[in-house]
Amino acid sequence: MFVVSGSASRKLGDSLAKHLGATLAETEIRRFPDGECYVRITSDLADQEVALVQTTYPDNNIIELFALQEAVREARPKHLTTVIPYYGYARQDKIFKPGETIVARNLARHIEMLSDRVILVDIHAPTIPSHFTKPCKAVSSMGQIGEYLKAFSPDAILAPDKGALERAGAVSKALGCQFDSLEKTRIDGETVVMKPKSLDVRGKFVVIVDDIIATGGTIIKATEQLKAQGARQVWAACAHGLYTGGALPKLTKVVDRVISTDTLESETSVVTVAPAIVREIKG
Ligand code: R5P
Repeated sequence: MFVVSGSASRKLGDSLAKHLGATLAETEIRRFPDGECYVRITSDLADQEVALVQTTYPDNNIIELFALQEAVREARPKHLTTVIPYYGYARQDKIFKPGETIVARNLARHIEMLSDRVILVDIHAPTIPSHFTKPCKAVSSMGQIGEYLKAFSPDAILAPDKGALERAGAVSKALGCQFDSLEKTRIDGETVVMKPKSLDVRGKFVVIVDDIIATGGTIIKATEQLKAQGARQVWAACAHGLYTGGALPKLTKVVDRVISTDTLESETSVVTVAPAIVREIKG
Protein backbone atom coordinates (compact mmCIF):
# COMPACT_ATOMS: atom_id res chain seq x y z
CA MET A 1 0.00 0.00 0.00
CA PHE A 2 1.14 3.57 -0.72
CA VAL A 3 0.39 6.80 1.10
CA VAL A 4 0.49 10.01 -0.95
CA SER A 5 0.55 13.15 1.18
CA GLY A 6 -0.36 16.59 -0.01
CA SER A 7 1.65 19.55 1.25
CA ALA A 8 -1.02 20.40 3.87
CA SER A 9 -0.80 16.97 5.49
CA ARG A 10 2.83 15.87 5.43
CA LYS A 11 3.11 15.16 9.14
CA LEU A 12 -0.05 13.04 9.13
CA GLY A 13 0.99 11.36 5.85
CA ASP A 14 4.26 10.20 7.50
CA SER A 15 2.39 9.00 10.58
CA LEU A 16 -0.22 7.20 8.49
CA ALA A 17 2.42 5.40 6.41
CA LYS A 18 4.16 4.24 9.63
CA HIS A 19 0.92 3.07 11.29
CA LEU A 20 -0.21 1.28 8.09
CA GLY A 21 3.19 -0.22 7.34
CA ALA A 22 2.79 1.39 3.90
CA THR A 23 5.27 3.13 1.63
CA LEU A 24 5.24 6.91 1.45
CA ALA A 25 5.01 7.78 -2.25
CA GLU A 26 7.65 10.07 -3.68
CA THR A 27 6.16 13.31 -4.87
CA GLU A 28 7.26 16.67 -6.14
CA ILE A 29 4.88 19.39 -5.01
CA ARG A 30 5.64 23.07 -5.32
CA ARG A 31 4.12 26.43 -6.11
CA PHE A 32 4.79 28.59 -9.14
CA PRO A 33 5.54 32.29 -8.47
CA ASP A 34 1.85 33.09 -9.13
CA GLY A 35 0.79 30.62 -6.42
CA GLU A 36 -0.50 27.86 -8.71
CA CYS A 37 0.55 24.36 -7.69
CA TYR A 38 2.71 21.83 -9.52
CA VAL A 39 2.37 18.18 -8.57
CA ARG A 40 4.19 15.07 -9.76
CA ILE A 41 4.17 11.54 -8.34
CA THR A 42 7.32 9.59 -9.13
CA SER A 43 6.54 6.31 -7.30
CA ASP A 44 4.94 3.57 -9.38
CA LEU A 45 1.36 3.25 -8.08
CA ALA A 46 0.09 0.86 -10.78
CA ASP A 47 -2.24 -1.79 -9.27
CA GLN A 48 -1.54 -0.51 -5.74
CA GLU A 49 -3.87 0.40 -2.90
CA VAL A 50 -3.38 4.15 -2.42
CA ALA A 51 -4.41 6.45 0.44
CA LEU A 52 -4.15 10.12 -0.50
CA VAL A 53 -4.10 12.52 2.47
CA GLN A 54 -4.77 16.22 2.12
CA THR A 55 -6.58 18.76 4.28
CA THR A 56 -8.87 21.05 2.26
CA TYR A 57 -7.89 24.27 4.02
CA PRO A 58 -7.01 26.91 3.02
CA ASP A 59 -8.54 26.99 -0.47
CA ASN A 60 -5.30 26.48 -2.41
CA ASN A 61 -4.98 23.02 -0.85
CA ILE A 62 -8.26 22.00 -2.51
CA ILE A 63 -6.83 22.47 -6.01
CA GLU A 64 -3.68 20.65 -4.94
CA LEU A 65 -5.86 17.74 -3.76
CA PHE A 66 -7.63 17.57 -7.14
CA ALA A 67 -4.29 17.64 -8.99
CA LEU A 68 -2.94 14.83 -6.77
CA GLN A 69 -6.09 12.73 -7.26
CA GLU A 70 -5.69 13.12 -11.03
CA ALA A 71 -1.99 12.20 -10.83
CA VAL A 72 -2.80 9.09 -8.75
CA ARG A 73 -5.56 8.05 -11.18
CA GLU A 74 -3.24 8.42 -14.17
CA ALA A 75 -0.90 5.93 -12.48
CA ARG A 76 -3.75 3.33 -12.58
CA PRO A 77 -3.92 2.25 -8.92
CA LYS A 78 -6.10 -0.64 -7.77
CA HIS A 79 -8.07 1.55 -5.36
CA LEU A 80 -7.89 5.16 -4.19
CA THR A 81 -8.98 6.21 -0.69
CA THR A 82 -9.03 9.98 -0.24
CA VAL A 83 -8.46 11.01 3.39
CA ILE A 84 -9.51 14.56 4.27
CA PRO A 85 -8.14 15.23 7.78
CA TYR A 86 -9.74 18.68 8.09
CA TYR A 87 -12.70 19.21 5.80
CA GLY A 88 -12.71 22.93 4.98
CA TYR A 89 -16.23 24.35 4.39
CA ALA A 90 -17.79 21.86 6.84
CA ARG A 91 -19.36 24.85 8.59
CA GLN A 92 -21.16 25.86 5.35
CA ASP A 93 -23.56 22.95 5.55
CA LYS A 94 -26.94 24.69 5.59
CA ILE A 95 -28.85 27.26 3.59
CA PHE A 96 -29.91 30.19 5.77
CA LYS A 97 -30.95 32.72 3.11
CA PRO A 98 -32.34 32.26 -0.43
CA GLY A 99 -29.56 32.32 -3.00
CA GLU A 100 -26.99 30.64 -0.74
CA THR A 101 -25.55 27.21 -1.48
CA ILE A 102 -24.26 24.28 0.58
CA VAL A 103 -20.55 24.55 -0.22
CA ALA A 104 -19.80 21.47 1.91
CA ARG A 105 -21.95 19.42 -0.51
CA ASN A 106 -20.37 20.97 -3.56
CA LEU A 107 -16.91 20.08 -2.27
CA ALA A 108 -18.06 16.49 -1.61
CA ARG A 109 -19.16 16.10 -5.24
CA HIS A 110 -15.74 17.15 -6.48
CA ILE A 111 -13.74 15.11 -3.96
CA GLU A 112 -15.54 11.85 -4.69
CA MET A 113 -15.27 12.14 -8.46
CA LEU A 114 -11.83 10.50 -8.63
CA SER A 115 -12.00 8.51 -5.36
CA ASP A 116 -13.23 5.00 -4.58
CA ARG A 117 -13.92 5.94 -0.97
CA VAL A 118 -13.45 8.90 1.33
CA ILE A 119 -12.45 9.12 5.01
CA LEU A 120 -13.11 12.29 7.02
CA VAL A 121 -12.00 13.13 10.57
CA ASP A 122 -14.13 14.71 13.34
CA ILE A 123 -16.44 16.26 10.84
CA HIS A 124 -18.16 19.39 12.12
CA ALA A 125 -21.57 18.64 10.57
CA PRO A 126 -22.68 15.00 10.87
CA THR A 127 -24.68 15.40 7.63
CA ILE A 128 -21.56 15.77 5.47
CA PRO A 129 -20.94 12.04 4.75
CA SER A 130 -24.48 11.92 3.31
CA HIS A 131 -23.40 14.33 0.55
CA PHE A 132 -21.14 11.60 -0.86
CA THR A 133 -22.55 8.95 -3.17
CA LYS A 134 -19.45 6.76 -2.80
CA PRO A 135 -18.51 5.13 0.54
CA CYS A 136 -17.63 7.86 3.02
CA LYS A 137 -16.90 7.40 6.72
CA ALA A 138 -16.12 9.97 9.40
CA VAL A 139 -13.71 8.80 12.10
CA SER A 140 -13.03 10.42 15.45
CA SER A 141 -9.75 11.48 17.04
CA MET A 142 -11.26 11.78 20.51
CA GLY A 143 -10.01 8.36 21.67
CA GLN A 144 -6.49 9.35 20.55
CA ILE A 145 -6.75 12.64 22.46
CA GLY A 146 -7.81 10.65 25.54
CA GLU A 147 -4.81 8.32 25.15
CA TYR A 148 -2.47 11.31 24.94
CA LEU A 149 -3.98 12.91 28.06
CA LYS A 150 -3.47 9.72 30.13
CA ALA A 151 0.08 10.81 30.95
CA PHE A 152 -1.24 14.02 32.57
CA SER A 153 -4.19 12.56 34.59
CA PRO A 154 -6.82 15.30 34.27
CA ASP A 155 -9.73 15.14 36.75
CA ALA A 156 -12.48 15.85 34.22
CA ILE A 157 -13.26 16.49 30.55
CA LEU A 158 -15.66 19.28 29.64
CA ALA A 159 -17.63 19.95 26.47
CA PRO A 160 -18.24 23.65 25.69
CA ASP A 161 -21.95 22.91 25.16
CA LYS A 162 -24.49 20.07 25.36
CA GLY A 163 -24.13 19.30 21.64
CA ALA A 164 -20.46 18.41 22.14
CA LEU A 165 -21.04 16.11 25.13
CA GLU A 166 -20.52 12.93 23.10
CA ARG A 167 -17.01 14.08 22.19
CA ALA A 168 -16.14 14.80 25.82
CA GLY A 169 -17.51 11.36 26.70
CA ALA A 170 -15.25 9.67 24.13
CA VAL A 171 -12.15 11.41 25.54
CA SER A 172 -13.07 10.61 29.15
CA LYS A 173 -13.70 6.94 28.26
CA ALA A 174 -10.02 6.52 27.37
CA LEU A 175 -9.07 8.18 30.68
CA GLY A 176 -11.69 6.72 32.99
CA CYS A 177 -12.50 10.17 34.41
CA GLN A 178 -15.63 12.32 34.76
CA PHE A 179 -17.11 14.38 31.94
CA ASP A 180 -19.71 17.11 31.74
CA SER A 181 -20.85 19.96 29.51
CA LEU A 182 -20.90 23.68 30.17
CA GLU A 183 -24.19 25.50 30.42
CA LYS A 184 -24.75 29.19 29.80
CA THR A 185 -26.98 31.13 32.18
CA ARG A 186 -27.87 34.75 31.47
CA ILE A 187 -27.65 36.72 34.72
CA ASP A 188 -28.48 40.14 33.24
CA GLY A 189 -28.19 42.05 29.95
CA GLU A 190 -24.38 42.08 30.22
CA THR A 191 -23.50 38.91 32.13
CA VAL A 192 -23.58 35.30 30.96
CA VAL A 193 -22.18 32.64 33.29
CA MET A 194 -20.73 29.39 31.86
CA LYS A 195 -20.68 26.56 34.39
CA PRO A 196 -20.49 22.77 34.21
CA LYS A 197 -23.98 21.27 34.43
CA SER A 198 -23.23 19.21 37.54
CA LEU A 199 -19.46 19.09 38.14
CA ASP A 200 -17.74 21.20 40.82
CA VAL A 201 -14.41 22.31 39.29
CA ARG A 202 -12.88 23.72 42.50
CA GLY A 203 -9.26 22.54 42.77
CA LYS A 204 -9.63 20.37 39.64
CA PHE A 205 -7.53 19.96 36.50
CA VAL A 206 -10.02 20.08 33.62
CA VAL A 207 -9.67 19.78 29.85
CA ILE A 208 -12.20 21.47 27.55
CA VAL A 209 -12.61 19.46 24.36
CA ASP A 210 -13.95 20.83 21.07
CA ASP A 211 -13.86 19.75 17.45
CA ILE A 212 -12.50 23.07 16.14
CA ILE A 213 -10.74 25.99 17.79
CA ALA A 214 -11.09 28.89 15.34
CA THR A 215 -10.96 32.38 16.90
CA GLY A 216 -10.51 30.79 20.32
CA GLY A 217 -13.42 32.86 21.67
CA THR A 218 -15.38 29.85 22.98
CA ILE A 219 -12.40 28.37 24.83
CA ILE A 220 -11.15 31.70 26.24
CA LYS A 221 -14.57 32.56 27.69
CA ALA A 222 -15.02 29.08 29.15
CA THR A 223 -11.50 29.05 30.66
CA GLU A 224 -11.93 32.45 32.31
CA GLN A 225 -15.15 31.29 33.91
CA LEU A 226 -13.77 27.91 35.03
CA LYS A 227 -10.78 29.61 36.64
CA ALA A 228 -13.11 32.06 38.38
CA GLN A 229 -14.99 29.01 39.69
CA GLY A 230 -11.74 27.67 41.21
CA ALA A 231 -10.38 25.26 38.57
CA ARG A 232 -6.70 24.56 39.37
CA GLN A 233 -5.65 24.00 35.76
CA VAL A 234 -7.52 24.37 32.46
CA TRP A 235 -6.30 22.83 29.20
CA ALA A 236 -7.99 22.97 25.80
CA ALA A 237 -7.91 20.06 23.35
CA CYS A 238 -9.32 19.98 19.84
CA ALA A 239 -9.21 17.89 16.72
CA HIS A 240 -8.69 20.85 14.40
CA GLY A 241 -6.51 23.75 15.53
CA LEU A 242 -7.49 26.39 12.99
CA TYR A 243 -6.41 29.38 15.13
CA THR A 244 -7.73 32.17 12.94
CA GLY A 245 -6.72 35.81 13.44
CA GLY A 246 -3.76 35.07 15.72
CA ALA A 247 -5.87 33.01 18.13
CA LEU A 248 -3.04 30.90 19.57
CA PRO A 249 -1.15 33.63 21.51
CA LYS A 250 -4.50 34.91 22.83
CA LEU A 251 -5.41 31.41 23.97
CA THR A 252 -2.10 30.65 25.65
CA LYS A 253 -2.41 33.81 27.77
CA VAL A 254 -5.50 32.32 29.43
CA VAL A 255 -5.39 28.54 28.93
CA ASP A 256 -2.64 26.52 30.66
CA ARG A 257 -2.03 24.36 27.59
CA VAL A 258 -3.58 23.92 24.13
CA ILE A 259 -3.26 20.64 22.25
CA SER A 260 -4.60 19.51 18.89
CA THR A 261 -4.21 16.69 16.39
CA ASP A 262 -2.26 16.56 13.14
CA THR A 263 -5.34 17.20 10.93
CA LEU A 264 -4.01 20.76 10.79
CA GLU A 265 -0.29 21.10 11.39
CA SER A 266 0.89 23.57 14.02
CA GLU A 267 3.00 23.75 17.17
CA THR A 268 0.03 22.33 19.13
CA SER A 269 -0.50 19.22 16.98
CA VAL A 270 0.89 16.64 19.38
CA VAL A 271 -1.72 13.91 18.80
CA THR A 272 -1.81 11.85 15.62
CA VAL A 273 -5.16 10.72 14.21
CA ALA A 274 -3.41 8.02 12.14
CA PRO A 275 -4.59 5.07 14.35
CA ALA A 276 -8.26 6.08 13.86
CA ILE A 277 -7.77 6.33 10.07
CA VAL A 278 -5.90 3.01 9.95
CA ARG A 279 -8.76 1.25 11.77
CA GLU A 280 -11.16 2.52 9.09
CA ILE A 281 -8.83 1.64 6.17
CA LYS A 282 -8.22 -1.87 7.48
CA GLY A 283 -11.92 -2.31 8.31
C1 R5P B 1 -18.92 25.19 17.07
O1 R5P B 1 -19.96 24.65 16.72
C2 R5P B 1 -17.63 24.46 17.08
O2 R5P B 1 -17.77 23.19 17.65
C3 R5P B 1 -16.58 25.25 17.85
O3 R5P B 1 -17.02 25.41 19.19
C4 R5P B 1 -16.34 26.59 17.23
O4 R5P B 1 -16.04 26.47 15.87
C5 R5P B 1 -15.22 27.30 17.95
O5 R5P B 1 -15.06 28.56 17.39
P1 R5P B 1 -14.23 29.70 18.09
O6 R5P B 1 -12.87 29.14 18.41
O7 R5P B 1 -14.19 30.79 17.07
O8 R5P B 1 -14.97 30.11 19.33
